[in-house]
Amino acid sequence: CGIVGYVGAGSACTVVVDGLRRLEYRGYDSAGVAVVADDEVRVVKRAGKLTNLTKALAELPPTDPLCAATSGIGHTRWATHGAPTDRNAHPHASADGRVAVIHNGIIENFARLRDELEAAGVELASDTDSEVVAHLLAAELARTAVPAGGPGSAVPAGGPGTGAPSGAGIPAGLGRASAAGGVGGAEVAGPTSAEVAGPAGAVLVDDAPTGTGLVAAMRTVCARLTGAFTLLAVSVDEPGLVVGARRNSPLVVGVGSGEYFLASDVAAFIEHTRDAVELGQDQVVAITADGYQVTDFAGAPAPTHRYHVEWDASAAEKGGYDYFMLKEIAEQPKAVADTLRGRLTEAGEITLDEVRLSDQDLRDVDKIFIVACGTAYHAGLVAKYAIEHWTRIPCEVELASEFRYRDPVLDRSTLVVAISQSGETMDTIMALRHAKVQKARVLAISNTNGSTIPRESDAVLYTHAGPEVAVASTKAFLTQLVACYLVGLHLAQVRGIKYADEVGAVVAQLQAMPAKVDEVLATMEPVRELGRSLGAARSVLFIGRHVGYPVALEGALKLKELAYMHAEGFAAGELKHGPIALIDNGTPVICVLPSPRGRAVLHDKMISNIQEVRARGARVVAIAEEGDTAVAPHADHVVYVPRTPTLLAPLVTTVPLQVLAAEIAATRGHDVDQPRNLAKSVTVE
Ligand code: G6P
Repeated sequence: CGIVGYVGAGSACTVVVDGLRRLEYRGYDSAGVAVVADDEVRVVKRAGKLTNLTKALAELPPTDPLCAATSGIGHTRWATHGAPTDRNAHPHASADGRVAVIHNGIIENFARLRDELEAAGVELASDTDSEVVAHLLAAELARTAVPAGGPGSAVPAGGPGTGAPSGAGIPAGLGRASAAGGVGGAEVAGPTSAEVAGPAGAVLVDDAPTGTGLVAAMRTVCARLTGAFTLLAVSVDEPGLVVGARRNSPLVVGVGSGEYFLASDVAAFIEHTRDAVELGQDQVVAITADGYQVTDFAGAPAPTHRYHVEWDASAAEKGGYDYFMLKEIAEQPKAVADTLRGRLTEAGEITLDEVRLSDQDLRDVDKIFIVACGTAYHAGLVAKYAIEHWTRIPCEVELASEFRYRDPVLDRSTLVVAISQSGETMDTIMALRHAKVQKARVLAISNTNGSTIPRESDAVLYTHAGPEVAVASTKAFLTQLVACYLVGLHLAQVRGIKYADEVGAVVAQLQAMPAKVDEVLATMEPVRELGRSLGAARSVLFIGRHVGYPVALEGALKLKELAYMHAEGFAAGELKHGPIALIDNGTPVICVLPSPRGRAVLHDKMISNIQEVRARGARVVAIAEEGDTAVAPHADHVVYVPRTPTLLAPLVTTVPLQVLAAEIAATRGHDVDQPRNLAKSVTVE
């Protein structure tokens, strides 16, 4: 789900909805906003995409107090508990209408909390796990405002929703001038005092966190929740304040001038500010128009990390393309070049500055596990071929969701490589924690600076794909491949084993890859045409060998995600063990061929496989290397890609499959950027 909060001088509704638009890739089952206006919490929410919400908001008269509110929260949902309906859309209001809450994640003990609330007479209005938080906050506010309600009970005898306003103000210290100022721009971290940053970035000290009001209520309620959550709340009694909290789900603060933001990721507020503050685990944050304050769930000051976001707002816009995905496909040469930049020296050496593991640590590695989900997992599958070849270290690749729940054999000399574009995929987070408990060293490959996975890892290698908005991953995948190659080459280099000799040559070949990806892009028109002709196919199969096998898996995943067609990838050698039974007259089979120069045996075997499927009526589309004359007589269509060393070939062979999937999806009338039922960042298990 995508989450935005705002307090400032502008229209909260406008800022929040704009932010949601940029976060819509995180989920688009429903959307809603809540603001505090004219002594009430106003909630507007709609099932379906964000446009349904914006239409509803546009129907309000301009004089509506909602339009004038200067603080508010908004949410775009990817449904977990409860169908994507108006009722289940966020924000959720408390029964007394005094508090509204949005939530990303899963509250695992919600059933018990719901029973407790229902026993106290609260009627829940939705099927979500999230709604309980609104009622618990209201109950806590009532309890702390009316001491007669008695401490120790989150739900007063009279039931929540009957309590008087808490009357508590904004937490002491927020926005106050302070003699402790002057740390502007530096890392905002304070082990001993709560911190509040004023508009100029000055750090103010709040030495007396209040025991009442929304901030305190949030701390108390969070301590009762299990599972994963990012929560934002507003209360009628404290207009001008938005309170957030996080555990296992992302939340960042945007530091503006006289305005502050909270969001699942910086894309939401990048138009307004590039100064951001990363929140840690189990922290509560309060923002007003004057500053922010971060504490832990017990109210103690919490350390935070402030940073500057490098990419600009235009990078998150479509830039003339019909879909973000097409723009992102086109950006791949640059993304690959950016990810290589600064990491290859002229002497053919690899420098990985963000890898905080010493060369000795890397020499001690005797086993590698790559863990990831979705497209990132396919990058890992390719990496295995390269890493084992260059380093001779055994490398296993595993879906993060499986790794975590079995009993993998790991120890101090195991290197776990966690690949995640977002850095927030819950299954991958859990897999890395599982690895760390067993003392393995973890190296993250991520596209998102400061996200959870890099933060919790021993080392990080950032991909520089820039923001990827389309749900189907393209440029992030190519840069993940590049990062994996760099890790493999670096390991080979520091270990100085026999394959280290190859490193220099591969470095030069890697440097030529952006231009080759560019060449592929320049020849995509026939692929688009082919895509249009495949729109009516019922099922499409993809086959490959060696690194062509994960490319086949990735091609099939793209088609499934975007075109909602039955699509499967197979190792070509497995065809005769089952999949060939699927082939019928006209079934398209996309065949990813290895170079006939590098792997002549594999190439010959692929040609045999092609003949086998063709004999059963398949319509063969071959992805082959320029100059491969052997394949043409056996294929209905050949898409040629530039000559590339075998291990690096996925950087070029994947691209036509991305274009094909986007074109087939568009031909079938589907939303290419936001396929049904999916979300870009899956922050629940
Ligand atoms: C979701 C996305 C995929 C992505 C996967 C892993 O399923 O739709 O495109 O590959 O998550 O995401 P990550 O951010 O961990 O790379």
